[in-house]
Amino acid sequence: MAIAVDDPYVRFCTAVRDLCGLNLLQYRRGQMERRIRTFADRRGKNDLLSYLELLKTDEQELDDFLDRLTINVSQLWRNPEQWDVLGREIVPELAQAGKINAWSAGCSYGAEAYTLAAVCHGNAPKARISVVGWDIDRRMVHRARVGWFSDADARSAPRDELARWFARADGGWQADERLRATCRFEVHDLLTETPSGPAFDLVLCRNTVIYFTEDVRDALHARLAAHLRPGGFLLVGATERVADAPGCGLVPVRPFVYRKA
Ligand SMILES: C[S@@+](CC[C@H](N)C(=O)[O-])C[C@H]1O[C@@H](n2cnc3c(N)ncnc32)[C@H](O)[C@@H]1O
Repeated sequence: MAIAVDDPYVRFCTAVRDLCGLNLLQYRRGQMERRIRTFADRRGKNDLLSYLELLKTDEQELDDFLDRLTINVSQLWRNPEQWDVLGREIVPELAQAGKINAWSAGCSYGAEAYTLAAVCHGNAPKARISVVGWDIDRRMVHRARVGWFSDADARSAPRDELARWFARADGGWQADERLRATCRFEVHDLLTETPSGPAFDLVLCRNTVIYFTEDVRDALHARLAAHLRPGGFLLVGATERVADAPGCGLVPVRPFVYRKA
């Protein structure tokens, strides 16, 4: 125990948990520690405890750090340019079939799924919309079912859309009944389980594969593609790519958007 407390990595992780609630000690140390040290080095900090001081005093640095490292970080309308493409181009096309059946694969606490529901309803008002969110983290799925988001979660959300789909509640934002009726959330492991229902029209898997090895990531992308109907779309994170799109039966239509052939 005494050894652990003296361990700078343990001290760093404990302090990060106190700062923002994320317990990095729950993740595989080798890969996680390397990643943290690389991040610290890039900021000119060559030891973890001086990097910790930076995180304590620089909110933007803490945000960037969490975005890069974590597992549950999310936001409403995260990467607004992706939602713009989705709302203007993809949703109207999908809506021609009268329904949009979507999967948020790695949904965290639901920000992506509720944003998706809002963007679908807003751009396809007559279509039947359903969104299922999967996450391995039971705590996040519980939070997602509540549908409440902080001001920080809403920082990228267009103000008019936020006011249209969310009500001010308890110092944050509560998803309205229509969004909540559209979304459901389930605890599942994307690496070992597959959905049993009909093929999806739209799958979002953003910022979830970064913790996986390349082989695991590529196998997951192939499985996600297998659960899309022909003509359906897969969206990945803004900085992510499907390594072998043709092998997955996918055609890139934007850097982060793929259509099932
Ligand atoms: C960084 S969040 C991304 C949330 C959202 N997609 C977004 O882009 O804002 C990644 C999520 O993937 C989940 N995740 C990681 N491995 C998973 C797995 N094997 N099965 C299901 N979810 C997983 C994590 O629990 C986490 O909530």
